[in-house]
Amino acid sequence: MNLRLISLYFVMGASSALNAQTRNVISLKQWEFSRDSIHWEKVSIPHDWAISGPFDKKWDLQNVAIVQNGEKTATEKSGRSGALPWIGEGWYRTTLNIDNQLPFHQLQFDGAMSEPTVYINKEKAGYWAYGYNAFRIDASTYLHKGKNEVVVHLKNREESSRWYPGAGLYRPVTVASLPKLHFDEWGLSVRTDSIGRYRTNGGGWSDEEVAFFNVNFKIENPENEDYRTYICLKDDNGKIQNAATDVPAKNVADHYNFFVSKPHLWSPEDPYRYTLELQLLGKDGKVVDKLIKKVGLRTIKVDSINGFQLNGKSRRIKGVCLHHDLGPLGAAINKAALIRQVKLMKDMGADAIRTSHNMPSQMQMEVYDSLGMMVMAESFDMWIYPKCKNGYARNFKEWADKDITNLILANRNHPSLVMWSIGNEIPEQWSEEGRKIAERLQNLCHTLDPLTPVTQGMDRAESALKSGFAQTMDVPGFNYRVYKYPRNIKQLPKAFLLGSETASTVSSRGVYKFPLEWNNSKTYPDGQLSSYDTQWCSWSNLPEEDFIAEDDAPYYIGQFIWTGIDYLGEPTPYDEYWPSRSSYFGAVDLAGLPKDRYYLYRSKWNTQEHTLHLLPHWTWPDRIGKVTPVFCYTDYPSAELFVNGKSQGRISKQKVENDGEIFCGKAAKPADAERRAARYRLMWKDVKYEPGELKVVAYDSQGNKAGEQVVKTAGKPNAIKMEADRSSLKADGEDLVYITISIIDKNGVEVPSADDALSFEVKGAGSFKAVCNGDATSLESFTQPTMKLFSGKLVVTLQAKDSPGTLQMVVKDKTNKKLKGTFTIPVK
Ligand code: GAL
Repeated sequence: MNLRLISLYFVMGASSALNAQTRNVISLKQWEFSRDSIHWEKVSIPHDWAISGPFDKKWDLQNVAIVQNGEKTATEKSGRSGALPWIGEGWYRTTLNIDNQLPFHQLQFDGAMSEPTVYINKEKAGYWAYGYNAFRIDASTYLHKGKNEVVVHLKNREESSRWYPGAGLYRPVTVASLPKLHFDEWGLSVRTDSIGRYRTNGGGWSDEEVAFFNVNFKIENPENEDYRTYICLKDDNGKIQNAATDVPAKNVADHYNFFVSKPHLWSPEDPYRYTLELQLLGKDGKVVDKLIKKVGLRTIKVDSINGFQLNGKSRRIKGVCLHHDLGPLGAAINKAALIRQVKLMKDMGADAIRTSHNMPSQMQMEVYDSLGMMVMAESFDMWIYPKCKNGYARNFKEWADKDITNLILANRNHPSLVMWSIGNEIPEQWSEEGRKIAERLQNLCHTLDPLTPVTQGMDRAESALKSGFAQTMDVPGFNYRVYKYPRNIKQLPKAFLLGSETASTVSSRGVYKFPLEWNNSKTYPDGQLSSYDTQWCSWSNLPEEDFIAEDDAPYYIGQFIWTGIDYLGEPTPYDEYWPSRSSYFGAVDLAGLPKDRYYLYRSKWNTQEHTLHLLPHWTWPDRIGKVTPVFCYTDYPSAELFVNGKSQGRISKQKVENDGEIFCGKAAKPADAERRAARYRLMWKDVKYEPGELKVVAYDSQGNKAGEQVVKTAGKPNAIKMEADRSSLKADGEDLVYITISIIDKNGVEVPSADDALSFEVKGAGSFKAVCNGDATSLESFTQPTMKLFSGKLVVTLQAKDSPGTLQMVVKDKTNKKLKGTFTIPVK
């Protein structure tokens, strides 16, 4: 290992004319799939064998007490893991044609659900226990030139998950063929050591900002050959910012320290990336291997004075927890679906994602890097003590270190990655044994990635502080119970803490329960919850308590709300109610449609654009003359509400003193929650409904009229409205368009209660992929081209084929046969 600081000199890379055959990476997309290894069907991966259902409570029916939720006796939990057929075995097989001369071949799985055993030409070539992790197999000795058979066997055990894990080859599989002398891709580590302003006298560095950028790499050199390396960093115009060559050396591990003057830094607001190119030259000067990576320059720091800092600037993390499923697509990963999620979350004002409670895929990380989302990459939901009978606890002792290692090696170079999490609500947080494990796993993270802080989400604050478990962590993360923060912080020498998981407010999009009530754990016969955002769980709270911590607790470095988007499984508080089978926690529903709560977060978090959102809808034929409260979620401090032109009063957000409340050490009672909400919401609680027009006029802090919003009563259904999230598709066989469908009256007002059954006929340059209406109790299949609207809406997903043309969908209303619509989109 030799240390060099290479200044800004320019070195030419070897020209491509001198290239030998460098690495060749292909994605294995076409497979055959079978549940019994007898009947096979053709599939493309990513693939989730369970998402088509049918939904049935018999799948993974769990008779358990959910201890984390405070339950003491076991009861039947029907939709806990999604009520989809993910349990059991599955087989995938494909033919891999090796037509290159390269001697090494590596298979990389980005995750396979679960317990994948890989056979190549009938020989067992590899195994990984955890379904969420990336792993590599050295396939060189099993593969030969020409056609080879690759078979993957998967096994999902019942009661192994607290949510829907998906099933199958749900993430990409690639094969990298490598030259004899090559870079080890996971041996590459890049990091920005520091960014600062430097002034020197005479020549060299001047008074400008400089980023110190460190590149570590590892080379496989089985025959101990002579080689040279060439490495350069290019900006997005392809201009070389810095480059270096190595003198002939035989080191298998090496590193360079670059500096980049006037660096263009990566951040969620400006996710700028450089291209790092590494070349390996054989002794004849030919390029034998090349690695090209998009990298970002950025630093992370957390301390008690400045909290969480990105590039030296303090910022409170405005994060969301997200499960890995993509609603109606299941766990099968798709880039367009991930982009849609990130855009939604960014518009809400979020700047970070916690991949709860497991490893992200490379596709996710690439999307987060390029669109600008910071990431807390998580690993485990349990260690030694099980949270469910057949969960990861079975594997922890043997696999934990291997899993953490792969998590870090696969993900450490992404600029979006700002924190590792070694666990979520680990039962052994009270014990000395737990503290020691935390220390070991955190040390392992530090060894593999020295500059990224490590956290975990703790739910038993007192125990974790008593055992030293909490104090051990770089970033002590607490799940829920905001009211304990002031106590917790006194016991934390680091003097800062993270809300690693917050809120768990529950609601159903477009459903409003009357009379207005503020309560925890209440349920209703229809399996829905109120979108007035007044309901939470026994351990959780409304968004406002976390807002108060953001605004008033200086030691609070930010939060990750549970959850940004609804997910399959865990239908709390309807864990025992059939047919609930997906969550109610999301600010956005399972179809990707924002609930009202989305705008509450947006009003606080999105500082670039104003928010002015009224709720509920204003079509209540059965409520004429009845009290129908109206809320407004806005960043403006005050507003006046009108019903058919009659003022309902002008009100302002109210500062609520929190001493003796959030900081008194007790969970909020309904009256506390309601009082605190008035600091962030404008609420007219006595409005009597009459059909017509609801209008809000907002005023800024100077008292100037700043905006208005109108909600009208809908008339008779007149047409089908379709809104697509894009105007064209890529002809790549993977791209997706999401079309939100609603029914409108003759004036274009959406009919909010419509529940018509629609059907979809798709032809041309694409196909029907999925449909979802966000109803957590719906048992209609996501993959059949028919569904009922829920609260007036649903979302259809269509997928492009791989040749250009026009994609067309005809929508028919089976309930109201007069209504029909046509949607077309070019596929280019
Ligand atoms: C937390 C847990 C999450 C989810 C959430 C629901 O305790 O970490 O996975 O179960 O509760 O509120």
